[in-house]
Amino acid sequence: MPGVHSGNLILVNARHPLTEQRRPLLAPAIPGSGVLLESHAAAMLTGALGRIGALGDIVPVSGWRSRREQQEIWYSTMAESGGEFTRKYVALPGCSEHETGLAIDLALRAEEIDFIRPDFPRDGVCGRFRAIAADYGFIERYPAGKEHITGIAAEPWHFRYVGRPHAHLMAELGLTLEEYVELLRSYPYPGGVLSTESGGYGADIGFTSSYEPSLAPSTPYQVSGNNVDGYILTLWRLPA
Ligand code: DAL
Ligand code: ZN
Repeated sequence: MPGVHSGNLILVNARHPLTEQRRPLLAPAIPGSGVLLESHAAAMLTGALGRIGALGDIVPVSGWRSRREQQEIWYSTMAESGGEFTRKYVALPGCSEHETGLAIDLALRAEEIDFIRPDFPRDGVCGRFRAIAADYGFIERYPAGKEHITGIAAEPWHFRYVGRPHAHLMAELGLTLEEYVELLRSYPYPGGVLSTESGGYGADIGFTSSYEPSLAPSTPYQVSGNNVDGYILTLWRLPA
């Protein structure tokens, strides 16, 4: 099936490794940064930080990583902090969503920033970013209390770009990406769709096992693989 392993909504974790090592189209996470992100995710991050006037106060720490870099981080963290810590905070090489370019670790600007566990508080400017993150398509990917589902310890600094309607739905329903991908199987397009109205933009979302669903030609839509067994279809509803 072409495309099951690519797109904004691919689930990448220890049970669902990346199968492609294709380097995404990359751009600085914010202008002037040496940290790279998939180019659309970078534009959305820049937009979010600009909106709250935080481009100098919130710092991108780690974005896109090559497989080799993830391997180096895994081995160096193992050597410095041991196995238990590493398994909690570093994804296995090949199983890190940093390798997709869709994940970003953010820190509050400081003299010293911990590369593995940057400080990204809930209040102040970081809290303001959290409040608008979904508008720009980002979710907090590893929330506390969901460690048994994500397989990763709580990481309040790690955000994942999934796209606006999905980020809003996940935030409203309190779902991790694992749970969201599972939920969408109950909405097989065209039989049923999950509908959302996030910030004035309506979208209908459904699961499909076909890469080329039959749609009305004028429907704006996006298809993403889920990296498991099919595709997530997003159909935007245009204002009447
Ligand atoms: N810190 C996250 C889990 C990663 O290494 O991808
Ligand atoms: Zn991260």
